[in-house]
Amino acid sequence: MLPYVTRRQRLAEAMRAQGGGVAVAFTAPEVIRNRDSEYPYRWDSYFYYLTGFPEPESAIVLVADGDAGESILFCRDRNEERETWDGFRFGPEAARERFGFDRSLPFASLDEELPKLLADRPTLWYALGSDEALDARVHRWLGAVRAQARAGVAAPARAFDLRAVLDEMRLVKDQHEIATMRRAAQISAAAHVRAMRATRPGCHEYEIEAELLHEFRRNGSQSPAYGSIVAGGRNACVLHYRTNDARLADGELLLIDAGCELDGYASDITRTFPVGGRFSGPQRTLYEIVLGAQRAAIDATRPGARFIEPHEAAVRVLAQGMIDCGLLAGSLDGVIESGAYRRFYMHRTSHWLGMDVHDCGDYREPGAPAPAAATPAGAAEPAAATQPAAPAGSGRPWRVLAPGMVLTVEPGIYVRAADDVPAAYRDIGIRIEDDALVTASGCEIITIDAPRSVDDIEALMRG
Ligand code: GLY
Ligand code: MN
Ligand code: MN
Repeated sequence: MLPYVTRRQRLAEAMRAQGGGVAVAFTAPEVIRNRDSEYPYRWDSYFYYLTGFPEPESAIVLVADGDAGESILFCRDRNEERETWDGFRFGPEAARERFGFDRSLPFASLDEELPKLLADRPTLWYALGSDEALDARVHRWLGAVRAQARAGVAAPARAFDLRAVLDEMRLVKDQHEIATMRRAAQISAAAHVRAMRATRPGCHEYEIEAELLHEFRRNGSQSPAYGSIVAGGRNACVLHYRTNDARLADGELLLIDAGCELDGYASDITRTFPVGGRFSGPQRTLYEIVLGAQRAAIDATRPGARFIEPHEAAVRVLAQGMIDCGLLAGSLDGVIESGAYRRFYMHRTSHWLGMDVHDCGDYREPGAPAPAAATPAGAAEPAAATQPAAPAGSGRPWRVLAPGMVLTVEPGIYVRAADDVPAAYRDIGIRIEDDALVTASGCEIITIDAPRSVDDIEALMRG
């Protein structure tokens, strides 16, 4: 069975558990880049998760009503002229057959059909409050249903956020997703190897970016999963560096944070290596600290552990390393308690990974906050590892890791030049990032093909 059909069935079950109703999800619109040129099209992740359908101007409607249920795709009609200019369209009939829907209708009929589908259904699920135009559209559908009140038709009395249900589903990957993510990870690992081999003093960051793109595309990846960071020397201390135009000098490190998207799934790898092929003493000292932190975090990534445990494990190793090498003074507990380590490690160690690079999924256990220190309902945790670390004190316990969840493990050290830091470490930025699939007994590093030990990197660059 198509994975999308199974997911729709699971969603319908979740809807039935709450009394049933109708769910609606739209795909993403096409977006103009300039004048009449569009950005490369990327579908909406939630929509694609449920459909596998790649065309813009589509929506899926799922009805779960008692034992009855129906999946309906709304999509563009075939159009010979448009297909001559822009390419193939499935059209409703072929789309229904190919993607396993019960029914399919022209996208243009959506506003006419929805009030009929919503009549006498108790609940509507959609991306509540995500888009003003969508909320207004829903408002119009509900108005059209209510207009039939004197004919005895009732409109849904409740609206739920569809994303909340799908976020829970997407957090634990199914076999189809895992297979795709493994392949995406392999392609990205090969791209990092290619980049290491191509790097020479004197070349530009963008030349290395081109090597990454080449490897992504030649393996069938549709695009990078996010803007590639190719950051030589001090640029590595800019967490979201994206300019990628500097010339690389011998003696510098090069930090590359890049991963491909394959069939809708992201990979996310960072490697840091010497432009000239050999780590200097101070570079190696910091590198080994980060690598040790990553090892500790990976050891802590196992079912039953809480989401925060890999981060806490990494922080302990990083903070001890910072003290040992003279970046920080004080005791381990002291620099952790005071947060002094954040000067050199200011982001979280992990984020969920999936269709979106900073994937959906609550970082805390769903349910009521603990009474003493409440989190405002729906308050988002910082999704990105390379985003500021979370403020302490949220009420709900951290999510318990379970098999099928995928998260990154990406500790780093970033030493911006300043008078009070040892001269040998100034302007060094290091991050090592891998993608971990939680298994029954621990985790599988699906990005393992990109070398990360000092010896392996130096050997590869010598070759
Ligand atoms: N590439 C973005 C991140 O590592 O979170
Ligand atoms: Mn990441
Ligand atoms: Mn990354």
